[in-house]
Amino acid sequence: MLKVQDLHAYYGKSHVLHGVNFDVQPGEIVALLGRNGSGRSTTAKAIMGLVHAEGTIDWNGQSLLKRKAYEIAKLGLGYVPESRDIFPRLTVHQNLMLGEKGGKKASRWTYDDMYAMFPRLQERQNTEAGVMSGGEQQMLTLCRTLMGDPDLIIIDEPTEGLAPKIVELVGEYLKKLKDRGISVLLIEQKLTIAMHISDRTLVMGHGSIVFDGTPDQLRADAATRKEWLEV
Ligand SMILES: Nc1ncnc2c1ncn2[C@@H]1O[C@H](COP(=O)(O)OP(=O)(O)O)[C@@H](O)[C@H]1O
Ligand SMILES: [Mg+2]
Repeated sequence: MLKVQDLHAYYGKSHVLHGVNFDVQPGEIVALLGRNGSGRSTTAKAIMGLVHAEGTIDWNGQSLLKRKAYEIAKLGLGYVPESRDIFPRLTVHQNLMLGEKGGKKASRWTYDDMYAMFPRLQERQNTEAGVMSGGEQQMLTLCRTLMGDPDLIIIDEPTEGLAPKIVELVGEYLKKLKDRGISVLLIEQKLTIAMHISDRTLVMGHGSIVFDGTPDQLRADAATRKEWLEV
């Protein structure tokens, strides 16, 4: 469904991605791992039309390159960036409303689904989003993206700065998305949840993919982990 080939990306003159190749199949959870600065977020931004890129990004037979970010979102790609960009002065419920795309097709998600998945958000639905904890804001960002009914969700370091208990929860929710047929590209630095929930793991180093295999294959590949992941 998503196929990235020979992808290059640039910030001005700075050449950051050097020929990235990978794909994500329907219903698959793929973890994109790597150290800080390896190019994972830039890969997400390139797919979402947020950075200058060259190469091939094919989405169900359509090219995503050179499209505007809102068009890409309309084609069924959801993006949860590193920065939990909620609207702090709006309530939780208002934030969710902003995620709806208002297309003709009925969304596979309702507000009730979000509140059932995250009871904490229901309790706080009339609270200003800006006063919630980091973990709650992370859940809200994820839910707002889901309200746009994506077929693939790209989620950038969702567990960064969260307590271990919440990290586990995030892993469970990502699996629930998969159960509803949504593909997930999970960007992480830590192996913890990625190794548990992914069907496949990609490792990025210096702007290209240096490993593509199952979590078991990555577990068995001490050299790759040592060279590209361990800090
Ligand atoms: N806005 C930017 N302008 C210039 N260089 C950037 C920008 N964002 C990231 N970079 C550089 O691009 C490289 C890849 O960064 P990034 O994709 O954010 O890595 P990761 O998400 O894996 O930590 C790094 O060398 C980083 O310094
Ligand atoms: Mg990043």
